[in-house]
Amino acid sequence: TVPVITLDGPSASGKGSVASLVASRLGFHYLDSGSLYRLVALLALRRGVALDDAAALASLALTLPVRFTGGRIVAEGDDVSDALRAEEVGNGASKVGALPEVRAALLERQRAFAVEPGLVTDGRDMGSVVFPDAALKVFLTADAAVRADRRYKQLIGKGESANLAQITQDIIERDARDAARAVAPLRQEPDAMLLDTSAMTIDEAVDQVAQWYAS
Ligand code: CDP
Repeated sequence: TVPVITLDGPSASGKGSVASLVASRLGFHYLDSGSLYRLVALLALRRGVALDDAAALASLALTLPVRFTGGRIVAEGDDVSDALRAEEVGNGASKVGALPEVRAALLERQRAFAVEPGLVTDGRDMGSVVFPDAALKVFLTADAAVRADRRYKQLIGKGESANLAQITQDIIERDARDAARAVAPLRQEPDAMLLDTSAMTIDEAVDQVAQWYAS
């Protein structure tokens, strides 16, 4: 079977950066599952589909016109990599991700990324639902204040305006919604290793995951 490493955790915990660096180090493929939920939200916003219209969103999810090429995400011929990172789209992703129909529609598409020589993937339910037999499961987290600060610096670094108090509030609300939802709620699986990165650099986190995988 193809080795899979899953990194699940809350918003802005650093799981995306850590997962993609672990993937490059091991020469594995990388799947940012959140980008699929973000894409459903982005296309829904663009097409005027309501973020609670489960049937319409599920059919959007089933037919997502997406290609991952060289680190960029292309939908309908349009490079949407930057548009996907907008806070509005992240919040929309959290809403559409609460719908079981949308999650079911994305399941096989996510599993199709598990090909040789291996896959590193990050999200909320990679270890619990999508890849329950993963070789290594990590639950990556950090204090809400640390995560808000990281997200803030990310936005400022991109030259966008950002408000730390607003970001902190959004992160706390998103965590609550992701943990409270009926389907695939965010939580640490019993067989997942806990990695709290509050006081760690990204490199230290990558080293730890690689070391767990090797042992
Ligand atoms: O890191 P951040 O939370 O900002 O973004 P993300 O990982 O792209 O996830 C955006 C939203 O998509 C999350 O708040 C989740 O509600 C949802 N999501 C999910 O439900 N399941 C996943 N496997 C990945 C993301």
